[in-house]
Amino acid sequence: MSSKNNNDILNNMTELEAANQLQNLAKEIAYHNDCYHGGDEPKISDADFDQLMRRNQQLEKAFPHLIRDDSPSRIIGAPPKAGFLKKRHRVPMLSLGNAFNDEDIMEFTARIQRFLSLDSKTVFALSIEPKIDGLSLSLRYENGELTEAITRGDGIEGEDVTANAMTIADIPKKLNATPLPILEVRGEVYMRNSDFFKLNHEQERLSAKTFANPRNAAAGSLRQKDATITKGRALQFFAYAIGEIDYGINESNENKIQHHGDFLEKMQEWGFKVNPLNKITDDMEEALDYYQELLNKRAGLEYGLDGVVYKVNRLDWQSRLGQVSRTPRWAIAYKFPAEKATTIIEQIDIQVGRTGALTPVARLTPVTVGGVVVANATLHNEDYIKSNDFRIGDTVTIQRAGDVIPQVLEVHIDKRPEESEPFIFPERCPTCNAVAIRVSGEAVRRCPAELDCPSQAVERLKHFVSRNAFDIEGLGNKLIDELYTDQILKTPADIFTLPDRAEDLATRPGWGTLSVENLVQSISIRRKIDLSKVIYALGIRQIGEATAKLLARHYKSMEALLEAAEHAATHEGSAWEDLINIDQIGISVASDLIDFLNAPNNNRAIHDLLQHITPLPPTAIAENSPITGKTIVFTGTLTQMSRAEAKARAESMGAKVAGSVSAKTDFVIIGADAGSKARKAQELNLNILTEDEWVKLAL
Ligand code: IVH
Repeated sequence: MSSKNNNDILNNMTELEAANQLQNLAKEIAYHNDCYHGGDEPKISDADFDQLMRRNQQLEKAFPHLIRDDSPSRIIGAPPKAGFLKKRHRVPMLSLGNAFNDEDIMEFTARIQRFLSLDSKTVFALSIEPKIDGLSLSLRYENGELTEAITRGDGIEGEDVTANAMTIADIPKKLNATPLPILEVRGEVYMRNSDFFKLNHEQERLSAKTFANPRNAAAGSLRQKDATITKGRALQFFAYAIGEIDYGINESNENKIQHHGDFLEKMQEWGFKVNPLNKITDDMEEALDYYQELLNKRAGLEYGLDGVVYKVNRLDWQSRLGQVSRTPRWAIAYKFPAEKATTIIEQIDIQVGRTGALTPVARLTPVTVGGVVVANATLHNEDYIKSNDFRIGDTVTIQRAGDVIPQVLEVHIDKRPEESEPFIFPERCPTCNAVAIRVSGEAVRRCPAELDCPSQAVERLKHFVSRNAFDIEGLGNKLIDELYTDQILKTPADIFTLPDRAEDLATRPGWGTLSVENLVQSISIRRKIDLSKVIYALGIRQIGEATAKLLARHYKSMEALLEAAEHAATHEGSAWEDLINIDQIGISVASDLIDFLNAPNNNRAIHDLLQHITPLPPTAIAENSPITGKTIVFTGTLTQMSRAEAKARAESMGAKVAGSVSAKTDFVIIGADAGSKARKAQELNLNILTEDEWVKLAL
């Protein structure tokens, strides 16, 4: 979609529509983020993912007051996978905002100039680095010895994979040169394309799981519970950033490293590999040309790149620029376009998802795209097929970017076989034969049979045990299919009676006492679980993790939520008002929630489930900064930082920044030439800080 088109749509959009779209995007992006970061199994292409992010960004730009707390622009990655010990990062691991064209990079540098109150002619150096397509890892060295390796996880806490990292040759166990007391080096673990092919070959030979792409292979190989398996996998590491650093007694200004580029050099001295294609320049033309240069080099490299990272070289500026939620203002990723190929649609299958959505999938003549063999691609929905007139037998262009399910882009009409016919989208569910319904205004056709449709029942179970829901290890998709077919597992409650059948299970082909014991164990530790996870695990349409958390915080128990849904069924009265008054819950979400909880099948399944589990109400989050939870007003001209920087800093310390002074204001920061707000603050006897006092508190 062109940006003009997009703007037209944005201009004609009502606030309600925008809010609804933002809500849907938050949910969809959170889901795909989880697949990508958590499960190592992406469901859509990077390009599609970027498009969702971009849409979100455009909407947030057009409707800044509608930015959600759970906005994808504020959240990165996925929480760590169970199985490894979780560890908190002492310095959070940030994620990068995306640029898609040269203008976005120009805007990035202009924003930096504005934020730092620089003259628009001021040039500044950028470090320009290939964005390696692997997974990031934080390595901690104490007195020069490797003590800890933690994956990014959700940026706040990750998995402790120290034993695994120790097996990677590129990662020094001991640093060269005089060691610093504390040094955290961050970088990317990746697998070379040739090693990825070799590994998949070997996995095939052993009838073991193959990996979709080198990134997944790297992630899967690093996160092996048995580190000797990691040792046998060809993993590499490039260093590109510093986390915590303590210079010890040498902590004088001249010893401190001032530029990112100097870090890159130091890291090499310490014994790390740093990407040889990194470049530092203060010439914008050169900076943009370098993107093209790397794009041209991409195909010839032995590892995958998904873009180019631009970073402000001065470290003092990096720290002043800080971050917007979890993306730094001082760095950005300029993404590479997706890779494409031509092939033939051999068949079009319809898949039925958890919410009954019928999704068309093209079965293709296998073709290699960017080093990965692709045999399936999504056709999105009924309208997408119709408007592009995709047919079985058509030669099409497909697109993929470091992912599992690529998409069909366009048809080559000149190659269409004469006898071909337009594809007719089925009007019935291919699984249960119920008449599938398409609500006007929606793109998807759905099977209405809910739990009576085997596809939906099974998909719901898979969602229920998935990582961000109940996270039950050992209950994989294949086993769920089997147990459902055998009528052993039909609803979530049945999962909790599986331990009673341990003996039967152990006799199943491919099963033994040990695997059953493990399964029983992972089921039993989930009997006590956060209420929000229970709500999310139900798989209610439009209720993603963020919304589930809101509901958990509001209702505090499953019983209270069920009761509210019952009373709100008429869409009026106090229970209904109470529900739609929850910030960020609109009529459409509320209706889906109520419909689901009140449907007799679902209601029974939930009550059955509650016989086996104890949902835990949410606990309050403790924060600590002198201004956490306080309301702050800035007035007058600040000379040491821009208003935007001050506001961002205050917010990052947990304060609310207000525009006007009232009795509810906790602190007023007064810059030069402050007027009526300063007077009012004095009249109200509020805490007043000078700019110097503020800077001391904030920096
Ligand atoms: S800098 C705040 N430099 O990209 C800076 N990241 O979306 C954070 N990545 O998690 C990272 N190559 O996995 C940086 N030269 C590079 C990188 C790089 C790849 C990845 C990394 C990070 C993600 C950010």
